[in-house]
Amino acid sequence: SPIHVFLQALPKCEHHIHLEGALTPSLLFELAARNNTTLPADDHAFLSAESLRLRYDHFTSLDDFLNYYYIGMSVLIHSSDFEALAWSYFQRAAADGVHHAEVFFDPQAHTSRGVAYSTVLSGFTIARDRACKELGMSTELICCFLRHLPPADCLVTFNQAELQESFEHGAVAGIGLDSSELDFPPQLFGELYRKAGEQGLRRTAHAGEEGPAAYIANAIDTLGVERIDHGIKLAEDGELMRRVAESGIMLTTCPLSNVLLRCVKSVAEVPIRRFLDAGVRFSINSDDPAYFGGYILDNYCAVQEAHNLSVAEWESICRASIEGSWCEQDRKDELL
Ligand code: HPA
Ligand code: ZN
Repeated sequence: SPIHVFLQALPKCEHHIHLEGALTPSLLFELAARNNTTLPADDHAFLSAESLRLRYDHFTSLDDFLNYYYIGMSVLIHSSDFEALAWSYFQRAAADGVHHAEVFFDPQAHTSRGVAYSTVLSGFTIARDRACKELGMSTELICCFLRHLPPADCLVTFNQAELQESFEHGAVAGIGLDSSELDFPPQLFGELYRKAGEQGLRRTAHAGEEGPAAYIANAIDTLGVERIDHGIKLAEDGELMRRVAESGIMLTTCPLSNVLLRCVKSVAEVPIRRFLDAGVRFSINSDDPAYFGGYILDNYCAVQEAHNLSVAEWESICRASIEGSWCEQDRKDELL
């Protein structure tokens, strides 16, 4: 349809995509075979790529999804596995009209399995260089910390020499906070974020996905974030919404993710219109595209179906997502 062609052609930036969440069932089974990975024998979903894919249609919550997400990534062992994963995502994103992608990864989920940070980073770096050369796509890495683990463990990981080196060399642009939200409010990670800020790292955190609007205020007040990942619960607090609009903090919304994880009943319930009216900046993203039934263009199309935005509104969403990106100003000027 004409609107689909228009949405495909828009120059998009993606800010909320977990590379481990781009692991498709087919790549998962291919790597499991190659790496001799034992998948759970007591869960019939792991019988085949097809049965696993079908299970993804029935997530009941963030934690239900995370169970599959952490098992799935156990097939990632070698640098070449991480490279294949990132390259498959970059190619797919380029086809959807993504010109700039800022991608999350979860080092603790790999180092805890005995996979070195340098293995993860080298694979991703090869794929990024290739995306730049072959796709003209600029990319940034955002190192996420797992909030279900003790904050002290996150600090130990953050302070490891390999991570510090990747921050200093600019291989990693910033930090994020992900995994189970409800029992792990942002303020638990104040020290981690203070240290990251002192080192000049960019800072974002998941907040207001399953958690309340108060967690969004908390992330802003105690973590110094310049973005909020998800943030859909912001609409529950009008005063906070005004504050976020004024501050220019950008939300990285993920509409299909919100539906699949039952944070909302439908994309129509994602408060896109409220955010537009209040002047809250946001980008539209895929989160974990291999798990949530869609890449970025599917999310753009779902928003259009549910909210019927104008051409001018789409252009302003794309402009805001360029301005809210963490690339150099020169690159932003090219993208605009
Ligand atoms: N929320 C929290 N943690 C995550 C997500 C998410 O949507 N995806 C991957 N890790
Ligand atoms: Zn996420």
